Parts: sequence; C-alpha cells; structure tokens
Amino acid sequence: MATVLKQPPAATLERLKTAIGAKGWTADPAEMSPHLLEERGHYRGRAALLLRPATTAEVAAAVRICAETGTAIVPQGGNTGMMGGATPFEHGNEILLSLSRLNRIRALDPLNYTLTAEAGCILANLQKAADDADRLFPLSLGAEGTCQIGGNLSTNAGGVQVLRYGMARDLVLGLEVVLPDGQVIEGLRGLRKDNTGYDLKQLFLGAEGTLGVITAAVLKLFPRPREVETAFVAVRDPAAAIELLARTRSGTGDAVTAFELISRTALDMVLTHIPGTADPLSAKHEWYALIDCSSGDSGGGLREAVERTLADAMEAGLVIDATLAASAQQGKAMWRLRDSITEAQKPEGGSIKHDVSVPVSSVPAFIAEASAAVARAIPGIRPVAFGHVGDGHIHFNVSQPAGEPKQGAPRDAYLARWGEINRIVHDIVARLNGSISAEHGIGRRKVDELAHYKSPVEIELMRTLKRTLDPKNIMNPGKVVVP
Ligand code: FAD
Ligand code: MLT
Ligand code: ZN
Repeated sequence: MATVLKQPPAATLERLKTAIGAKGWTADPAEMSPHLLEERGHYRGRAALLLRPATTAEVAAAVRICAETGTAIVPQGGNTGMMGGATPFEHGNEILLSLSRLNRIRALDPLNYTLTAEAGCILANLQKAADDADRLFPLSLGAEGTCQIGGNLSTNAGGVQVLRYGMARDLVLGLEVVLPDGQVIEGLRGLRKDNTGYDLKQLFLGAEGTLGVITAAVLKLFPRPREVETAFVAVRDPAAAIELLARTRSGTGDAVTAFELISRTALDMVLTHIPGTADPLSAKHEWYALIDCSSGDSGGGLREAVERTLADAMEAGLVIDATLAASAQQGKAMWRLRDSITEAQKPEGGSIKHDVSVPVSSVPAFIAEASAAVARAIPGIRPVAFGHVGDGHIHFNVSQPAGEPKQGAPRDAYLARWGEINRIVHDIVARLNGSISAEHGIGRRKVDELAHYKSPVEIELMRTLKRTLDPKNIMNPGKVVVP
C-alpha cells in the first residue's frame, strides 16, 4: 500500500471547510507556519489545509470526507513531539488536523477518581483541574505547558513519574476515537474492571495518529500526596545510582515517584547556559541522582526514611554528598536543573539523540559501553547521559566535540552522522535486550530503525493492523510503520 501523494482537489478542500465551518480552518501561510515546523526544527512540512474542529462530530465529518476522497490526514496536538510524527511531509498533499479547539473537560468524578477530557486539553490544565479537586493526575513532563492529552496518549508519553504511576497508557480507562473511515468508538467508560474481550483502546494509545484520531479519554486520578521529599545526591557512579534506587525503594516503603540520573557534563551545560541556576552541592561530582519520594501521610516519617536511606548509602560508599530540599521552592530549583538539560544542550552545537531503555540493572553497562563506543567513532564527542533511570530509561544525547564551531558546516557535518551513531548505540541497546524508543515514539525519524530492530513477525503484525484499520492509508501515512 503506497503512501497517498495526491494533491487534494479544490472540491475536497471546499467540502472540508464547509464541514468544519469558518472558524475551523485556515490556509493562511503565517497562521499555518508554526504548525509545520517540528519541535527541534529538524523537519519543515507543508499542508493543503489546517483544520481545527471543535467537536468529535466535526472530526468525524472531516475524516469521513478524507476517507471518501483518499486524502491523507496528520493529527496534531501541541506539536512538542520529538520524532516528527506531527509534521506533515514536504510534498504538501496532506491535511493537518489540529485538536487544539477540542479542549473541554467533560467530567471530573472525585469518587471514581476519574477525569474525562477532550484531546486538545493542555496537560498542565488537567493537572491543575485534578489538583483543584484534591486529586493527582500524575503524568508530568517538561513540555506539559504546551503538549495536549491527545498527543500524550498518542505517543504513550512517559515523563518523570512513570516509576510510580506508569506510562500514559497506564493512566487511561476509556477512549473516544474517530476511526479512519469516520466511525466513532464511544468508549468513554470509567471502569477499573472491563474484561470484555480485546482491549481495543490499547491499539490507539501510542499509535501516533496512524490508526485513528483520539478525541477524548477517561483518565485515572490518584490521591494527592501530602508530603514530597526531593533529594539532590552526588553518587559514586551510575552503578551506585542504581543500587541507591533499589535501597530507596525498599527503605521508604516504595515511596519513590521519580529517580533521575544527571551527569556532570549535563549539569555543567545547565549551569553555563540557563540563567538563575546554581549547583546545589559545594563540590563538583561526576554523577548525580535527583530523587522524589512522596507519601499520602504528612507526618514527616518520609523525610526521616529518606535521610536514613541516604546516610546508610553514604556509609556504603554509594553516595558522596547529598542535600534534601528544605522547601517546595528548593525542590523546584533542583527540578529546574533537570528539566533544563535539553535546552542547555542547544548552544553546545549539534546533539545526536537516543531515547533508549534497558533493564534497570543494565543501565550502568549501557552508559559505559555506549560512551566508549561513540568516543571511538568520533574522538572528543560529549555524551550527555541523563533521565529516567528509575525506569531503565536513558536520554543518551551526544553533543559534538567541544573545540568545534557550534554552527554552520562543522555542526552539519556532525549531525550528518546521526544514522551512523544511532546504529552504534542502538546495537548496544539491542544486545542488552532494550528498546530503541523508550518514550518519544517512532514518528518519521525512527521508521527505518524500528524496521531494523523489531522482529519480522512483529513488524508484519503491525502492518496487518495498519492495513486492517486504515485500508486507504490516510491516517498519518509514512509514520511508525509503512504498510
Ligand atoms: P504532538 O507532537 O502534536 O503529536 C505527537 C504524535 O501524536 C504525532 O504523531 C501526532 O500525529 C499524534 N497525535 C497528536 N494528537 C493526536 C490525537 N488527538 N489523535 C491521534 N494522534 C494524535 N515526552 C515524553 O514522553 N517524556 C518526557 O519527559 C518528555 N519531555 C519533553 C520535554 C520537552 C521540553 C519537550 C519539547 C518534549 C518532551 N517530550 C517528552 C516529547 C513530547 O512532549 C511528548 O511526546 C508529548 O506527549 C507530545 O504531545 P503533543 O500534544 O505535543 O503531540
Ligand atoms: C526529557 O526527559 O527531558 C526529554 O524527554 C529529553 C529529551 O529532550 O530528549
Ligand atoms: Zn524524557
């Protein structure tokens, strides 16, 4: 099944405009421009029309017209995805479908611990709505002020609290989806138990818009924590960090909600480029763990348990130094260091990214092997290893050598080696039984890598699903898997 390349005729565009109404579309280049550029500027696409439906019925009407006319659709949420999945191709023959006007909270049921939200709701607004009802919606990531829940569910986003609450797909009880022929699955059920055959919603979670358009979801809420303890800890090395993770989990009654690794290289870049940041510890160290523990009890027992765990780990030589946030504001400042790493890498020139996972116990081996391998390929290359190691997940971003100009030809020449460096790192990941995409998905960037590393049986099953649900290949064609 070939990707749809046909330019939609004027009559199709007119039908789409009429179906959505005057407020729901634009073809103005200036208005469309930010929607056509990928988050990191790696892709700039074109589109025949930008549609902004405000209801599920309008989404369904638009998709039906596209199905009848064989017109390709690219769904878009907050456009913060990192794999190019929300960017239309350069040929300009696709319709861009923004979900941003479909942004109502339909219900919040504190007794059922659920929130029903439309796809275009900004993640931070959902966190706030839950908080206002004395509940927690735990999905949390750096882009939360911009990304939309529909995009989060379509990428199966991770973020910093997966260790405790799971990935986006674990936070969904029900889903409303417009299928590629325009039919609607009305699955907004808030049930913890529903064992009625195949769990169809799972097909659309993490599908990156290739199997349908998510229009609304019933999300799980949790009790709001009463005590949160944040610790910034200098550890001996990544192996000590992983040992500390295990000790903190058992020492606090499994109260760890986030466990992030930060390398000195990453911290130095943040301290250099992000105004208002400061090293929380007095001496420099090679590796750090940023830890959040939380409890429903505000009695102070958690702080004691964290302090005891850190003291024991220090005695065992795992921890070199540590500081526990004395206030929520100090905790926020520690998290700002972590959340600014990607931004701080930008002025350091080209960065080749790897969003990979391995079993938690293999994290130290991965970092050691991958760092040595990329250094053999490009002497002077700077591994910036950080991220959600509590989930076995490392953002292994490698910056170009320090001495080179950070723009122009040297940067381009470095980035031209993206595929080669990815292959070196991904081969190590595969040997350690890991994944080449821990949370960012496949999009456009990793289509070939996925085909290379996934087994032929799994790839063929994915293609079969795609062909079955989307026989005309109109839903985000060319992304994730090519049928
Ligand atoms: P978009 O980028 O608009 O779309 C992503 C994909 O989903 C595309 O394929 C698109 O076609 C599809 N899509 C969007 N909406 C729908 C819909 N309603 N129905 C069907 N398909 C749809 N990601 C993480 O997982 N963890 C992190 O910690 C993290 N940190 C980040 C930090 C920063 C600073 C930035 C910029 C990004 C980060 N990301 C992270 C990546 C990104 O924020 C997530 O992938 C997010 O879930 C994307 O949401 P979005 O609304 O921006 O989706
Ligand atoms: C993060 O966790 O900060 C992002 O997912 C990392 C990235 O930018 O690669
Ligand atoms: Zn991340």
